[in-house]
Amino acid sequence: MVWKIVRMTVKARHNELKKLVAHHDYLYYVLDRPELTDFQYDALFSELQKLEQEHPDLDRSDSPTQRVGGRPLDAFEKVVHRQPMLSLANSYSPEDLIDFDNRVKKFLRTDAEVEYFCEPKFDGLAIELIYENGLLTRALTRGDGTTGEDVTNNVKTIRSVPLRLNTNHPPALLEVRGEVLLFKNDFLHLNESYQEQGLPTFANPRNAAAGTIRQLDSKIAAERPLRFFAYGLGAYEGIQFSSQDEFESKIEALGLPTVQPHKNISLRRICAGIEEVVQFYHEVEDLRSDLPFEIDGIVTKANRFRLQDDLGLVARSPRWATAAKYKPQQAETKIETIIVQVGRTGALTPVAVMTPVKVGGVTVTNATLHNQDEIDRKDIRIHDTVIVQRAGDVIPEVVSVVMNKRPKNSSPFVIPDHCPACHSRVFQVEGEVVKRCQNPFCSAILKESLKHFVSRRAMNLDKVGDKLIEALCDKGLVRSFSDLYRLTEKDLSTLERQGEKSIQNILSSIEKSKNTTLSRLIFALGIRFVGEQTAKSLANHFLTVEAFLNAKEDDLLQIADIGPKVAKSITTWLSNPELTKEVRQLIKAGVVVEKAKAVTTGPLSGKSFLITGTLPIKRDEAQEIILSQGGKMVSSVSSKLSYLIVGDDPGSKVDKAQALGVSIISWDDLLKMLQ
Ligand code: IVH
Repeated sequence: MVWKIVRMTVKARHNELKKLVAHHDYLYYVLDRPELTDFQYDALFSELQKLEQEHPDLDRSDSPTQRVGGRPLDAFEKVVHRQPMLSLANSYSPEDLIDFDNRVKKFLRTDAEVEYFCEPKFDGLAIELIYENGLLTRALTRGDGTTGEDVTNNVKTIRSVPLRLNTNHPPALLEVRGEVLLFKNDFLHLNESYQEQGLPTFANPRNAAAGTIRQLDSKIAAERPLRFFAYGLGAYEGIQFSSQDEFESKIEALGLPTVQPHKNISLRRICAGIEEVVQFYHEVEDLRSDLPFEIDGIVTKANRFRLQDDLGLVARSPRWATAAKYKPQQAETKIETIIVQVGRTGALTPVAVMTPVKVGGVTVTNATLHNQDEIDRKDIRIHDTVIVQRAGDVIPEVVSVVMNKRPKNSSPFVIPDHCPACHSRVFQVEGEVVKRCQNPFCSAILKESLKHFVSRRAMNLDKVGDKLIEALCDKGLVRSFSDLYRLTEKDLSTLERQGEKSIQNILSSIEKSKNTTLSRLIFALGIRFVGEQTAKSLANHFLTVEAFLNAKEDDLLQIADIGPKVAKSITTWLSNPELTKEVRQLIKAGVVVEKAKAVTTGPLSGKSFLITGTLPIKRDEAQEIILSQGGKMVSSVSSKLSYLIVGDDPGSKVDKAQALGVSIISWDDLLKMLQ
């Protein structure tokens, strides 16, 4: 009887774990929105594995342990890998490395030290690049390990990935695997610019990279500076390698990016035995927070390919490699207060100000709490003792509250109903989690808008920094964009700590910025959802300030990049006479907009094209012809696409084009259009 009850609970826990792991797989692989740290996920997964080992009669047929990885998304063409993309068992301690080494030696029946090749475990998204006769013909995600998604267009936007191998004698086939990621700095800039545009931000660089690769619109991918580090080999023909070390050196010579030394310390090391691997593990951990990209551990591989072959696989993981991960970097501290910041779009963001604490070598004081939902979910209050963590390791986050250290008299934190800067009532748009100040004269919104206006990629007033903007606004010297162009030497000399020289520098940087382009000006205006790329499209379409100011929704919707949400945001902005008047004031104050050049003249003007399949001429030559005749290339099928050009072996784009009623033509048809 007692036995039966135990069996029941084991089975119930097994079912629960299967469901939990499957759910978190979905969040991670499909939605790119994980809710668990790797550490938490691995704990669940290993509990499931252990349970199944201890109770072999449990039903494993639908268990996530029987499968590696996630499901491919529907929107991309699915392609079967020539060689499955495997995964590695994770471990969290140097002792696990010793165990790994013992297993290797036992399997090889040897006492001799094994030579290992070590490098960081990059925290990004695994991608396979396929080079046929030296040409990059395909890039696939890992998918479920057997079948990946064709993300060639997006991968081709990664500057460091060579489109052709750097050799006159390319191998017939070379499949190189590696990790796509975003550098920490690039990630922070990306999030800043998304925040400015009022778009949702990414939780960490890994999510941003994964989200980008799964973008159907490769223009968006092109805007995000992805990177790639090669570390693995798939199928190959016409080339030989005898070790991991030789492989990486050879592909480096072919032009593929591999991880480079950091401050003269090599991040790839051949170790004569496992002790040196353990040392590498610790050395790299010390470097971790200083590296420009995120890593979550190290990977150790038997260096010799002969040994790798001897060792082979267990289930779907190689016996010749292991990942040793680092523990998440966490610390305990106290929330001193919660401040509420007002962004350029009026969004109120609560930020925890904490007693400074070191987390993995970096001092953390502030952490965004995102919004009210997040505060409620974690029940975070002022004066709470909390666990902070650097997610991956860029952005600090409050993980949880240490409840038994909560002061007795504390009460829940509620984001105020009034703007902390201008005290006007704030609104919460239905369906949005954020509260917004909608006062057009709010001083905080003005300051943030000006900071964006002067920024490098907008009007580029390079000597006008955040502090100066604050001072100019506080003194009442600047109340609008155009006020910046009316500033005099006398105005600036009333500010504290401004010497003659710096005043001249400020004035000349303001003067210099007057000569600008239409796309910079449009971007600088800070219209919601109008980022740099959209601003460029708008400038190319409208060519002059006046034409842009008179844009109607229908005109906007004709532009390939612009959908109803963005069009609406622009027309709402343009319908506010105060705002359009301000643009004219800028021109009056001396801003000169260089006339944008129309690149769309020729027989194909105003038409958009997309190619699928193999054409009788090279694809980039075909594109060049189309562009030179005034046509435009787009990256995905939509109802706005004018023509889909179909060659041999076309992809799924044909079905989509048919469904949307897009004209489908051959290359010959296109040539006829040119005659
Ligand atoms: S070698 C059999 N090297 O970690 C797989 N993997 O679970 C051999 N990863 O899917 C992979 N950095 O996405 C290898 N330097 C590195 C890596 C690395 C990150 C990822 C990769 C793989 C996962 C292993």
